[in-house]
Amino acid sequence: MITYLVTGCAGFIGTTFVHFMLSRYTDIKIVNLDALTYAGNLENLKDIEDDERHIFVHGNICDKELVAGLMARYDPDFIINFAAESHVDRSISGPEIFVTTNVMGTVNLLQQAKNAWYDAGQKTWKPGKKYVQVSTDEVYGALGPEGFFTETTPLDPHSPYSASKASADHFVKAFHDTYGMPVNITRCSNNYGMYQFPEKLIPLMINNTKNHKPLPVYGDGMQIRDWLFVEDHCRAIDLVTSAGRPGEVYNIGGHNERTNIFIVKTIIQQMSEKLHDPEINESLIRHVEDRLGHDRRYGIDPSKIRADLGWYPETAFEDGIVKTIDWYLANETWMERVTSGEYQQYYERMYKNR
Ligand SMILES: NC(=O)c1ccc[n+]([C@@H]2O[C@H](COP(=O)([O-])OP(=O)(O)OC[C@H]3O[C@@H](n4cnc5c(N)ncnc54)[C@H](O)[C@@H]3O)[C@@H](O)[C@H]2O)c1
Repeated sequence: MITYLVTGCAGFIGTTFVHFMLSRYTDIKIVNLDALTYAGNLENLKDIEDDERHIFVHGNICDKELVAGLMARYDPDFIINFAAESHVDRSISGPEIFVTTNVMGTVNLLQQAKNAWYDAGQKTWKPGKKYVQVSTDEVYGALGPEGFFTETTPLDPHSPYSASKASADHFVKAFHDTYGMPVNITRCSNNYGMYQFPEKLIPLMINNTKNHKPLPVYGDGMQIRDWLFVEDHCRAIDLVTSAGRPGEVYNIGGHNERTNIFIVKTIIQQMSEKLHDPEINESLIRHVEDRLGHDRRYGIDPSKIRADLGWYPETAFEDGIVKTIDWYLANETWMERVTSGEYQQYYERMYKNR
């Protein structure tokens, strides 16, 4: 039995990670610690509510006593930290919570893991334990038209979000370099797929397109992102957790660079075909003022994870985007409950009396 303490699994990627792991392995336990911020939606995990392998804990990664208690109670083999404030626009209007959760929360997890796993007298770590930090390619800053981010590209974050993630990465590295803590850091490119909160580009555009609402595109829309289907990311994290060399950073991406405007036009084209709706067309596009400090291009070099762990993306963008659109169209109620805020009452109803 392998026990995972995984944080932030009511969010987009964490939700897929839990589903992925439970469908793949029988002999595991996942303790899921999530504060249920606006981005956390417990309804995403409704289908595994009665699965004894998944234990939901409502709480904050910054809470020292709570995390220490979970370490003592469950003695996890691995900690995987997905929990974060993750939206760049929100970090521009209010950076403090990004420092609290992304930096202080990470340091608390590291500290509690060290307290539980480290024998200071012997300077040894309990065998088989590891901490995995889920980071982002945004910590590397922006690229020009040529070249890719490798694991040795210097960190050069531009937004408060990426600065907080880079800071957290430095703390993870420091715990490895100072105390010898077994850690990995993964830095993935932009994810897309089901269960993504509709403030992010792809679900926002799908939802607005369906409702004939304007499609706001920052600046000229020529910003390039390297898009990866969320299940491919989750498979990579599983591999890094089980087989990554301690102390290593792994970049995760699939050489799938697309401009934002290409993504928007693809969604329009797919949606107009699927819904046979002539009102869905490019006249919905509105170019709006660009985001402050907007990075122009991200591009990941994934050679290391491919060579070391044999990982490569299994889902081509052309298939992944269709799967994604189909999911949002088939799950209209999910979208309605998220946009109306109703999903936030689910926890109260489900857990209030437990
Ligand atoms: N979405 C992407 O494209 C992408 C790409 C690369 C890396 N990442 C990283 O992956 C991780 C997950 O991203 P996501 O898109 O799923 O994010 P998300 O915003 O959808 O979900 C974040 C989750 O963390 C929880 N959370 C927030 N603050 C918390 C706290 N203080 N304590 C406990 N839980 C808390 C939220 O309730 C939510 O469930 C993040 O660390 C992000 O930086 C995301």
